[in-house]
Amino acid sequence: MKQTPETVILLNFGCADIQKFARAIRDRHIYTMVMPYTVPVERVLQEKPVGLILCADPETPARPEARAKFEALELPLLDLSGGVGDVDAAVDFCRNRCGCSGSWTLDKFIDEAVEDIRRQVGAQKVVLGLSGGVDSSVVAALIHKAIGTNLTCVFVNHGLLRKNEPEMVQEVFARNFKMNLCYIDASERFLSKLKGVADPEKKRKIIGKEFIEVFAEAAAKIDAPFLGQGTIYPDILESIPLDGNPAGVIKSHHNVGGLPENMKFKLVEPVERLFKDEVRAVGRMLGLPSELIDRHPFPGPSLGVRHVGAIERDTLEMLREADAIVTEELTKAGWYHKTWQTFAIFVPVKTVGIKNQKRSYEYVIAIRSINSVDAVTAQVVRLPWELLETMMERIVREVDGVNRVVYDITAKPPGTIEWE
Ligand code: XMP
Repeated sequence: MKQTPETVILLNFGCADIQKFARAIRDRHIYTMVMPYTVPVERVLQEKPVGLILCADPETPARPEARAKFEALELPLLDLSGGVGDVDAAVDFCRNRCGCSGSWTLDKFIDEAVEDIRRQVGAQKVVLGLSGGVDSSVVAALIHKAIGTNLTCVFVNHGLLRKNEPEMVQEVFARNFKMNLCYIDASERFLSKLKGVADPEKKRKIIGKEFIEVFAEAAAKIDAPFLGQGTIYPDILESIPLDGNPAGVIKSHHNVGGLPENMKFKLVEPVERLFKDEVRAVGRMLGLPSELIDRHPFPGPSLGVRHVGAIERDTLEMLREADAIVTEELTKAGWYHKTWQTFAIFVPVKTVGIKNQKRSYEYVIAIRSINSVDAVTAQVVRLPWELLETMMERIVREVDGVNRVVYDITAKPPGTIEWE
């Protein structure tokens, strides 16, 4: 059980901004949790809350019968049926009516998480799939702090990674952190399964299925009863329907998708109560480098969905090189952290051009740069023209097989962020 003190529970009666609100109160060192208004009161009491806040939007005021159920608990209760605009009012309530000392910090969270992991795992082993993304990296660092070499991380190179990514992950985790890292180069296996497959959904399915198989094979050898997972709070909150049975959904989330039936792991999910930027902050505190913690989101199927059509080794290499140039120039120009995602796409179309004073007939690379809050909608970033030109010049000069670069100016909607 988590040892978190002084929990205030936000009851969601249909409030669009509830995650942001919960996060803002946590910034004032008061620990909040979010539950749907349909939650059984027993579940609320389990967390031993010191107060409750009803959160609704003006159009969806708290329903009287559901409200009554919480009123009956005789806990301090703040009704924000008119909307959750004012964080100060909620913080005042937590401090003055609920007696919160306002002493919750991520430092303390780390200490408690380490103790929790030790208590849960004891002297047994944990296996963890490291993707190079923020969540699994932070969980790896946290579990490693708790149990050291009883953690084994499995890093699968599916051949679709960005340039230097396998080296970077090995450098950080094996060399700096001295973790047990099982690095599997399965590129050949993935690329041969993907050979000739052009359909985006089929590509995604093949990558997902192979990934599970390779990981399961490696995990079976490690023979650990526990599986570390980078589940974060929004993953859980967004899988709970506002109406319906929240308890059921919380449970089903605890089945690991895709692993073979006979692999029954107990899960270790130390950041499952943290929001994304809290996870990042924890990662920084644990000494993970910024190039891992502050990177752009990257899709699971990786370069596989940024290479339009069937993947060939040579064209995949063109994409990898072009992508590295885009990232390098973006960073150099100080634009990396001003965009949500910026990347290259391989377009399997040949066009005529002139290279080295000769007629060329080569492929197209597209550049996409977007800003977004939640990836549901996205705006195209107006990158400086000079920066785009520098990217273009380097790509056509340095990437063999590419003679044209285009800029994608499509917002989402109507476009999606990824091309496949
Ligand atoms: P779309 O292309 O749907 O992307 O506008 C929205 C966000 O999700 C990311 N994305 C994925 N992430 N597995 C992932 O883990 C996937 O299959 C996948 N597809 C898209 C995308 O990079 C963007 O941030």
